[in-house]
Amino acid sequence: MSEEPAVYTVSSEPATRVAEKFDVERVRSDFPILAQHVNGHPLVYLDNGATTQKPECVIEAIAHYYRCDNSNVHRGAHALSDRATAGFEGARSKVASFINAPDAKQVLWTRGTTESINLVAASWGRSTLQPGDRILVSAMEHHSNIVPWQMIAAERGATVEAIPVDSTGTLDMQAFATMLNARVRMVAVGHVSNALGTINPVAEIVRLAHAAGALVLVDGAQAVGHWPVDVQALDCDFYVFSAHKLFGPTGLGVLFGRREILEAMPPYQGGGEMIESVSFAGTTYNQLPYKFEAGTPDIAGAIGLGAAIDYLQALDREGAARHEQALLEYAQQKAAQVPGLRLVGTASHKASVLGFILEGVHPADVGTLLDQQGVAVRTGNHCAQPIMDQYHLPGTVRASFSFYNTFEDVDRLFLALDKARQFLV
Ligand code: ALA
Repeated sequence: MSEEPAVYTVSSEPATRVAEKFDVERVRSDFPILAQHVNGHPLVYLDNGATTQKPECVIEAIAHYYRCDNSNVHRGAHALSDRATAGFEGARSKVASFINAPDAKQVLWTRGTTESINLVAASWGRSTLQPGDRILVSAMEHHSNIVPWQMIAAERGATVEAIPVDSTGTLDMQAFATMLNARVRMVAVGHVSNALGTINPVAEIVRLAHAAGALVLVDGAQAVGHWPVDVQALDCDFYVFSAHKLFGPTGLGVLFGRREILEAMPPYQGGGEMIESVSFAGTTYNQLPYKFEAGTPDIAGAIGLGAAIDYLQALDREGAARHEQALLEYAQQKAAQVPGLRLVGTASHKASVLGFILEGVHPADVGTLLDQQGVAVRTGNHCAQPIMDQYHLPGTVRASFSFYNTFEDVDRLFLALDKARQFLV
C-alpha cells in the first residue's frame, strides 16, 4: 500500500456506521490490560502515541520463549539455540514482509526509533558529512529526529535546518523545495507527527530530495501502528520505528535501510556478532545485518514483535484504520462544542491524534483531572519543543487513539473534560 492510507475515504460516511463494520469489542478482548479500573473508573486508554497495549498473543509469545526456548542466538550447538535463532530471524523476516523491504538483511534490530536514528546519524553522518553540508528536518520533529543530527552536525561542521510548518501543522512543501540544493545531504522527517498527528507527504518529500541528491530518513514511529507501510513505494533510504508502538514490547526498534548505503556505512558499535574475524593486526566486519548488531540482541523482544505482526496481519487493517479515523472525526466534532478548547494540529491529513489546550489552563492540570476519572492521556510538549515554541504553548493535552478504542471512550474523555473544566476554568 502507498503512504496515503485508505482511511481518507471515510469522511463521506457517518462515523457511527463505519464503526459497526469493525468489531472493536472482539478486538478489545485480545488486550487484557484494557479490562481494568483506574481510580475507580473503567480504564480509558488514550495514550497510544506514547505506547500501544499488547495483545495476549504477544505476551504469551514472550513468556513461551522464556519458558521453553531461552538461549542465545547464532552461537549454540544445541536445540534451544536453534529454536531461539529460528524465532529471532523469523521475526526479522516478518518485519521485512510487513514493511515490504526487498530483503530481510536490510532490516536491522536496534533498541528503538531513537537508537535507529542515532545509528544513522553516527555511522552515515560521521563517514559522509563534510563542513558546509546541510541536514533538513521538519519543524514538527520529535527531539529524537533533531538532536542526533545536531550532535553529528556539530562534530562535522554541518548545519541542521528546519523545514517550516504552518499554524495548522502542515509542512510547507514550497519552502522545502526552495531549501533543497546540492549541499543538502539528508532530509529527516516524521511520517506522522507525534505531537500534531500530521501525516507528512513522504513520497513527495523523497522524490524532491532525491532529485536534489539528498537521502531521506523517515521516522515511522507514529505511522506503523495505524496503516500498512511500504518502504519500496515510499522509496525512502531509511525507515525507522519502535516495536512498542506496534503492539510489541519496549526496548526494540527497527532500522530499514537501502542496501548499498548500509553496506557502505561503518559499524556503529563494536563487539560480538558484528565481526567476521578479530586479530590485533586488524579486524574485519560481518555482513548485513549483523555488522550493526553488536552484542546479544533482544531475542524475546523480536519474537514478541513477530507475534504482534502476525496479529496485525490477521486483523482487518483497513477496517481498523477506518475505525480510528471515525473516532478522530467524532472526537473533533465533540471538541468543537467545548468552550475554550482549541485544537492544536489541524492539518487535513491526520492520524488519530487529538491535541488540544483549554484556554487559561495548564495541560498538566487537565491530565491529572482526567486521570482521576480513569482517562489516560499524555500532556506536555511531547518531546517536540520547537513546534510548541512556535505556537507559544507550554504543551498540549494529547488523546491518541488506536483501533481498540471505542466511541464510548471518546464520550468518557469529553465527560471527564467537562468535569475538569468545571473545576479548573
Ligand atoms: N514519543 C512518544 C510520544 O509521543 C513517547 O508520546
